Amino acid sequence: MASLSEKEAEAYLDARPRYPIDWYKKIAARTLDHKFAWDVGTGNGQAAIGLVEHYENVVATDINEAQLTRAIKHSRISYHHTPKNMSEDEMVALIGGENSMDLIVAAQAVHFFDLTTFYNVAKRVLRKEGGLIAVWVYNDIIISPEIDPIMKRLVDSTLPFRTPIMNLAFDSYKTLPFPFESIGMGSEGKPITLDIPHKLSLKGFLGFLRSWQPAMKAKEQGVELVNEDLITKFEEAWGDENQVKDVYYKAHMIVGKIQEMRCESDDQVSEDSNKDLLLQTEVGRKQERRQPSDEDTRQSKKQNTSEDEGHEAC
Ligand SMILES: C[S@@+](CC[C@H](N)C(=O)[O-])C[C@H]1O[C@@H](n2cnc3c(N)ncnc32)[C@H](O)[C@@H]1O
Repeated sequence: MASLSEKEAEAYLDARPRYPIDWYKKIAARTLDHKFAWDVGTGNGQAAIGLVEHYENVVATDINEAQLTRAIKHSRISYHHTPKNMSEDEMVALIGGENSMDLIVAAQAVHFFDLTTFYNVAKRVLRKEGGLIAVWVYNDIIISPEIDPIMKRLVDSTLPFRTPIMNLAFDSYKTLPFPFESIGMGSEGKPITLDIPHKLSLKGFLGFLRSWQPAMKAKEQGVELVNEDLITKFEEAWGDENQVKDVYYKAHMIVGKIQEMRCESDDQVSEDSNKDLLLQTEVGRKQERRQPSDEDTRQSKKQNTSEDEGHEAC
């Protein structure tokens, strides 16, 4: 913990975390080749920038053209707009063709997608041999023993206002359909849990709360969840307003490959192979192994009718 200099204050205004570089390294170590990666739902390109350290070329796409104009430029990253009406064939051709991608990443994004279209395209462009697809989401933020219970009450209060998209994210991707074969880094219904460390100022935290999508949804229905009373509670619990806190986000990841045709006796997946990623957190060690219920799956399928495509769900 430290006090904010003016420059730091700028940097810490943003409550969105950067993904640990270690993640890209560990996932890249599991793909056979390192020529092409696709960052889908790239936003400002932060995952694309991480991937370009390990792949010769990164294709980064987003449905929101305005996002792309603000994305971080790099000579080996090509950014492309993929409008909603783009056909699967057009998308496959744009990204690089059939069987071309060594890695597909959807960082904090797949819950916004039309999953049928995305998975159809992903299965076509992903390399059948040695190609991987990784999806992750972060949700809970762990700040301090004073702040966390207030945050938990706020999170609970969003329940009646959540969209199916938000539920996928709040549910830590446990109900996300993921039709790929596990490589030991999570699987459908059983994501691995990881920590993302981050430095956060009070100003950044309050800025994040004020634009937090679940609270915005409540506001649309006339309910002000992030009201002045709550803000005061957070300010008091924070303590010194100039203090930058070391916080962390809980992230949930699934990595898979194209399903191989094989007999059941071969179906022993090595959950050991990525122990080092898993063992980064206590939660990872204790992670529950829940299968999605029929109701969960129905709910997550409904999310394709997205009314809030593209922006932070949580
Ligand atoms: C929460 S942002 C995440 C951005 C970035 N991947 C990151 O981790 O910071 C979600 C992104 O997904 C994009 N998105 C939503 N639906 C999409 C779709 N069907 N195809 C491509 N991008 C989409 C949004 O425009 C937005 O930029």
